[in-house]
Amino acid sequence: MKPLRIAVIGAGNLGKIHARLLTQNPAVQLVAIADPSPSAQAEIMSQVPVPVVNDFHAIMDQIDAAVVATPTRFHFDVASKLLAAGKHTLIEKPVTDSAQDALELSNLADASGAVVQVGHVEQFNPAFTKALESIGTPKFIQASRMSGYTFRSTDIGVVYDLMIHDIDLVNSILDGNVVDTRAVGFSVFGKNEDMAQARLQFSGGAVANLTASRCSFSPERSMQIFGTDGFSQIDFTNSSVTTIVIPSWIRNREMNFFNLTEEQEAFIRDSLFDSVLKRQKVEVPRGNAIQAEHNDWINAITTGTTPKIDARQGMQAVEIADGVLNQLNTHRWEQRNLAMTGPLAKLPETDRSDMLPNQLLPQMRRAA
Ligand SMILES: NC(=O)c1ccc[n+]([C@@H]2O[C@H](COP(=O)([O-])OP(=O)(O)OC[C@H]3O[C@@H](n4cnc5c(N)ncnc54)[C@H](O)[C@@H]3O)[C@@H](O)[C@H]2O)c1
Repeated sequence: MKPLRIAVIGAGNLGKIHARLLTQNPAVQLVAIADPSPSAQAEIMSQVPVPVVNDFHAIMDQIDAAVVATPTRFHFDVASKLLAAGKHTLIEKPVTDSAQDALELSNLADASGAVVQVGHVEQFNPAFTKALESIGTPKFIQASRMSGYTFRSTDIGVVYDLMIHDIDLVNSILDGNVVDTRAVGFSVFGKNEDMAQARLQFSGGAVANLTASRCSFSPERSMQIFGTDGFSQIDFTNSSVTTIVIPSWIRNREMNFFNLTEEQEAFIRDSLFDSVLKRQKVEVPRGNAIQAEHNDWINAITTGTTPKIDARQGMQAVEIADGVLNQLNTHRWEQRNLAMTGPLAKLPETDRSDMLPNQLLPQMRRAA
């Protein structure tokens, strides 16, 4: 079979990774990379031996498929043109920056028959699958996704930037739809929220508490899942999982824990996670999640099946994220009529961006 002819559109942080991995994938031929930025072009040309063009329209008739890795605000414009031309599309997450646009892309994909995969790459983190294996039905989830400030993806807030990963993960495993959303957020530097905390209640009864920050001094990507039969803790960064399966004799209350001798209590206290609620490190297979995401998409294209994260799933994540944003943008921090609301975002009153950090530092120290 002829390899699939693919382009990467947008050669920034993510586009570079997609391009490098696609050149190593025998099922595809990376035909071209499109990016209007001269500096992005120069950098990608030094790394990947593939023609680079300014505008993806110029290579439309040379490709069967494309990866869209532009800033989120351009996803709809680029992807809708690709889909209208029947090109299979892998769109980085979040699929778009509005649920309405996501629905339109989903309809376009249905009409054209093109296969859309959305880049919710944590779905391909083997730790996530492993964590679910022996804990029964997930009922309560806590997730934290924190990073330092990178100056990336500032066209969107942290809900679309980071929390969307966990929104998609919990939405894919908890029963039913989101029926209640509570959220608060804070902005540190600009007009969008940089920290957010959300509580999602699902119609099946399960609850997810999600925390995201892109202004944190302790980077972390973790999730705790409480299921009907046990508990799993995931560290997405190291792709590691710790699980506790609750023994049936505890679940069924076969032993009375409140009628023990002092010696028995001491034994349980001292060896709780070794002998009673046995804590186990789960073996997680190694693998490159973006490569797995490519292979799933390519397989769906060649076999006519549905990819793991189709346009509708991407749209659902955006809809839930919009619910979170709606709550955090209207949260009142005071009772008064003219109360402070939302993430307390402010635009700068004076532009001090001409001040270099070393000029700013003494002034910041004086103010402290
Ligand atoms: N899956 C993940 O874990 C993950 C992680 C980070 C970012 N992302 C997503 O990937 C996307 C890109 O993020 P990034 O950090 O690489 O951004 P970036 O700013 O580093 O790169 C974007 C590139 O797109 C180019 N571009 C803009 N408009 C274009 C157009 N019309 N045609 C072609 N190129 C265009 C820009 O010149 C830039 O080089 C965003 O949607 C972001 O949310 C996903």
